[in-house]
Amino acid sequence: MMLKQVTRPMTMQGGAAKKMTPETLADSSATLSEREMKRVADFIGNTVGIQLPLSKKTLVEGRLRRRLRRLGYDCFKNYLDFVLDTPQGEGERLHLVDALTTNKTDFFREPEHFDYLVKAALPELERERIRAGRQDLKLWSAGCSSGEEPYTLSIVMNEAMSVYPGLRFHILATDISHSCLQIGSRGIYTEKNIEPVPMALRKKYFLRSKDRKSELVQMGPDLRQRIQFQELNLMDENFSLPHLMDAIFCRNVMIYFNNEIREQLVARFERQLHSGGYLFVGHSESLNGIKTSLQQVAPMVYRKV
Ligand SMILES: C[S@@+](CC[C@H](N)C(=O)[O-])C[C@H]1O[C@@H](n2cnc3c(N)ncnc32)[C@H](O)[C@@H]1O
Repeated sequence: MMLKQVTRPMTMQGGAAKKMTPETLADSSATLSEREMKRVADFIGNTVGIQLPLSKKTLVEGRLRRRLRRLGYDCFKNYLDFVLDTPQGEGERLHLVDALTTNKTDFFREPEHFDYLVKAALPELERERIRAGRQDLKLWSAGCSSGEEPYTLSIVMNEAMSVYPGLRFHILATDISHSCLQIGSRGIYTEKNIEPVPMALRKKYFLRSKDRKSELVQMGPDLRQRIQFQELNLMDENFSLPHLMDAIFCRNVMIYFNNEIREQLVARFERQLHSGGYLFVGHSESLNGIKTSLQQVAPMVYRKV
């Protein structure tokens, strides 16, 4: 394999990086040693909370190889030295995290939760909001990925306004992944993305391009104006939000954390909820075995009493 030696970027430490040609990029054979895998796993575990056991080495290798190719590194060691050990690697750390988080999501994913929110939780939440004289209900999509979850929340809450005319709500949508937050803030999705959304709701809330051939659809202003996208690392012990929440959706996020981190996070969620507020977790993320005073009220739905 022909590798062309190039000048080492000022920011790099260690051996000289080698720039690769498009041909060599296609069949890059850089391999991740167990030692390097441990460096990655320690960094991701400590900063993001996601556990990466050795069994995930092939997956990590595949995902990071794309970053190596993109930046022109021919071995993991040089890449990791730059990213993890130099201040200049800070920007690339975001890409490393992006590459290793799982962002799979969907509109109306695990739809029973949206039914539960509107039919079972909302009547009481709205009554309590009015009683306490609060301006709006506060919902939080914690680990919102590319925005499908908060937009689904915005759709169902907008729909609920026909039943509760005085209903006002605000949705905070947070994630650690910059690329996901950008997609969410833009609010533009493909026809394929929006397939799970019932046709009547698509017509009501989504904007189509004037170009009939375009496969892209934009979330309409009624949905967008309710949502604020913001970066937030759930591992940050000191995260503080400006207000308490009525409902927190943290679904398919904690599955990647160990029990200790889950327990700490659930305690923080509990503090962040109004009394009577709800926590929704993913269908495979029961809080069994976690010390919490939240009470289960439906499958994967917990309440602060
Ligand atoms: C599988 S997606 C789930 C998206 C959505 N909640 C759903 O259920 O469809 C998990 C998301 O959690 C985010 N995430 C993982 N660790 C995080 C952390 N420490 N802080 C904030 N977000 C995190 C990832 O970036 C990813 O977008």
